Amino acid sequence: MKGVHASLRHDSALKHVTGQALYIDDMPEPAGTLHAALVLSPIAHGRLRKVEVPSSPGVVAVLGPDDILGKNDVAPVGSDEPLFATTHVFHAGQPLLMVVATTLDAARHAAERATIEIDAEPAILDIETALAAKAYVQAPSTVLRGDPDAAMKAAPHRLSAEFTVGGQEHFYLEGQIAFAQPGEDGDTVVHSSTQHPTEVQHICARVLGCDYNRVTAVVRRLGGGFGGKESNASWVAAAAALAANHTGKPVKLRLPRETDMIATGKRHPFLYRYTVGFDDEGRVLALDAMLAADAGWSLDLTPGVVGRALTHTDNAYWIPHFRAVGYACKTHKQSNTAFRGFGGPQGVVVMEDALDRIAHRLGRDPVEVRALNFYSDAGDETPYGQKVEGNLLPRVWAEVKQEADWERRRAEVDAFNRTSPVLKRGLGLFPLKFGISFNIPHMNQAGALVHVYTDGSIRLNHGGTEMGQGLFIKVAQVVAEVFKVDIDRIRASATSTAEVPNTSPTAASTGSDLNGWAAYAAANTIKQRMIAFAAEHFGVAESEIEFADSTVRIAKPGSNQVVSFNELAKLCYLGRVSLSSTGYYKTPKIHWDGAKMKGRPFFYFSFGAAAVEVAIDTLTGESRVLRADLVQDCGQSLNPAIDLGQIEGAFVQGQGWLTCEELWWDTEGRLRTVGPSTYKIPGSRDAPAIFNVKMLENAPNLEATIFRSKAVGEPPLMLATAVWTALKDAIAATGDGRTAVRLDAPATPERILAAIAKLRT
Ligand code: MTE
Ligand code: MOS
Repeated sequence: MKGVHASLRHDSALKHVTGQALYIDDMPEPAGTLHAALVLSPIAHGRLRKVEVPSSPGVVAVLGPDDILGKNDVAPVGSDEPLFATTHVFHAGQPLLMVVATTLDAARHAAERATIEIDAEPAILDIETALAAKAYVQAPSTVLRGDPDAAMKAAPHRLSAEFTVGGQEHFYLEGQIAFAQPGEDGDTVVHSSTQHPTEVQHICARVLGCDYNRVTAVVRRLGGGFGGKESNASWVAAAAALAANHTGKPVKLRLPRETDMIATGKRHPFLYRYTVGFDDEGRVLALDAMLAADAGWSLDLTPGVVGRALTHTDNAYWIPHFRAVGYACKTHKQSNTAFRGFGGPQGVVVMEDALDRIAHRLGRDPVEVRALNFYSDAGDETPYGQKVEGNLLPRVWAEVKQEADWERRRAEVDAFNRTSPVLKRGLGLFPLKFGISFNIPHMNQAGALVHVYTDGSIRLNHGGTEMGQGLFIKVAQVVAEVFKVDIDRIRASATSTAEVPNTSPTAASTGSDLNGWAAYAAANTIKQRMIAFAAEHFGVAESEIEFADSTVRIAKPGSNQVVSFNELAKLCYLGRVSLSSTGYYKTPKIHWDGAKMKGRPFFYFSFGAAAVEVAIDTLTGESRVLRADLVQDCGQSLNPAIDLGQIEGAFVQGQGWLTCEELWWDTEGRLRTVGPSTYKIPGSRDAPAIFNVKMLENAPNLEATIFRSKAVGEPPLMLATAVWTALKDAIAATGDGRTAVRLDAPATPERILAAIAKLRT
C-alpha cells in the first residue's frame, strides 16, 4: 500500500504522453454542435460606432451585447468588464461580437470578415504615462512600518535605482476553451478549461440571468493554466453558454492561439523606483519603494497581484523601516491577471536588485550582504505584521552553497573572466521566502465528496482542478492513506460545481493544502462510521479495529480476525451505514486587514534557494544557463516525484519570464507577439545544462498542514531570480567589476548588449 510521501507517478502521465488524455476539444461532439468565433477590436481605445458580420453560409447567429439576457459583465472582482464592448473599446483584442456557425471554419471565416468602425482615441500604453496621468484601476496601496523617511535620512549610506520587469504569456498548451450544452428549462452544463469552476458557474449565470443552480461547470483537466485560467476562462465559458442558450444547441468556443494571446491577460509588467538606506556592513536600515504594475484596461485580479507583490517585497530580509507603495496602472492593453507567483515574483526582485547594488557600493560580497540581512529566528515580523516562524533561510542557504560548491566556483568563474574577453560568466545566489494562502482569508476553504461503493472501490471528488500539477494524485494519496488501501482503488472524478459547491480557484499553490484536508475529512468520516459499525458487528472496542494493507484487523482477544476493506464496505452497506461523506476544511490562524495592509495573511512560509551560473556572449548578447542548483522546502512532501517536476518546471518557466519571453506591442497598442514564432518560451535546450534539484530533507511543516507537507506550485518559479542576478554578475565582469548593472527583464540579447554598452561608457 502506497499512500502519502510516496513518489507515485501522475495519474494521467501515460495518457498525457500517449495522447489519450481527454481534453475538452477531444470530447465527442453531439449531433448539431455549433462552433463559435470572436470578433476582436483592432484598436486599443476608441468609440465603437459599428460592428457587423456579413451573412455567410453556415452562420447560425451573431451575438453581441444586446443578446445578453443577464448582465454584460464578466468581471471576477468589481464590475468593470463587459463580455462584449458596448460604446467604447479599451484594448486591441477586446471581444466585440461572437459568430456561431455550423462549422469552426464557417465561424472563423465570418468573424474575419466583420466590418468594424471605431473612432480612435488616445491610448495609454505604458506604465510611465499611466502614472503621470494618475490612471489607476484601484487606489494605490501601501505597506508601511516604522519611519522610513527619518531612517533613510539617518542612514550612513543611501542609494536609489530604477528598473522594470516584463509581463509573461501563460502559453498553456491547451488554449482557452469551453463547451456548453443546453438542457431543459434553460439549464446549462459547461465544460470549461478553468482553474475556477465556481467562478465559471457564477459568471455564466450572471450573463444568462439565471440562478447559480441552473449552471453546472465541469472540468476534468486543463492542459495547463498557470494562473491564466483563473479568471479568463470564465468569460470564454460565459460566451459559450450564451451561445448555447441562444441557439438551443451545444456550442464550443475554442480560442485559436493568436486570439488567445491577443484577448487574454498576462503576467503584470512592473516598474520599480526605490531608495535604500544601509550601514557600513551593508545592513539595510530602510527601504522606500514604489512598485507600479501595468494592470491593463480593467481590474481583473490586479488587487491581489499588487497585494502579493507588496507582501513579498521584503522577501527574505528584515527591513526595520519599510515603505512599499503599489500602483495599479490602467493602460489600454490586455487586462493582466494571475500568473504563477501572483505578484510574488514581481515583489521579490526589488531587494535582490538593492542588495547587489549595496554590495557593489561597499565593495562587499553580495552573498554575505544577503545573509547579513536575513530574518533571524527570533520571531522577526514582516513589514505587514506577520511573524516569520519556522524560518528555514539559514538551512536552504547553507545547503545550496554546499551543493553548488559555491566558494570554489566563485573563484573559478572570476579566473575564467580574467582571461576570457568575449565570453563572460556570472553567478547568482537567491533566497526565497514565499507566503502560502490566498491573501483574502475567506478564499481559504475547500470541500470534498467521497463515496465508498459496496465493492470497496472509492470515488473521490473535491473542488480542486487538475492542470498537470498532480493535485489529483496527491489528494488520492491522502484518501488511500486514510483507508489504508491501494491508490488504484481510488477513482478521482472531474471537478464539478454539482458535486462540491462554492469552491475557491485552484491557485495560490493551495490546491493540495486545502483539498487534501477536505478529502481527509470526508474519508475519515466514513472510516469512523466503518469502525463504529465493525466494533458493534464483531463485538470489540473501536480501539481494537485497525485499517492496514487494504484490510481491516479486528483484534479480538484469542481470535484475531481480518476482513478485507471490500468485505467491510459490503457489511456496512448491509448494516445500513452511509458510505458517502462530504468533507470541509478552512485554513486556521489567518487574518488580513486590506485597508491597513496588516495581519497574518499566510498560514506559513515556504523557503528555497538557488545558485545559478550563466555565460554571456558579449558580442551577440546571447546567454545560457550553465548550471542551476536548487534547494526547495516542500515540508514533508506528499509526493516527491510530483514535487520535483513542479520545481523543475517552475524554475524554467521563471527563467523564461526573466530572459527570453518578450511581449511586444506596436505603437498602436497591438500585441505583435502572438504565437511561438515571435514569442519565445524556453525550450529543452534552454533548461540548465546541469540541473541539480533537491528538496530540503527533514523539514516537516511546523503548522498542521496535510501530513506536514508544503505547497510547491509557485515558489520555485522565483528561484529563477538567481538567473537574473547571475546575468548582472556576468555583465558586471565586462566593466571594472565594481559598478552595479541595471538589467531590465526579460534579459534578451538586446538588453544584455545595451547593459554592456552602458557599462563601457
Ligand atoms: N503545473 C502544471 N503542470 N500546470 C499548471 O498550470 N500551475 C501553477 C502550479 N503548477 C500549473 C502548475 C500555478 S500558477 C499554481 S497556483 C499551482 O500549480 C496550482 O496548483 P496547486 O495549488 O495544486 O499546486
Ligand atoms: Mo496560480 S498564479 O495562483 O493560478
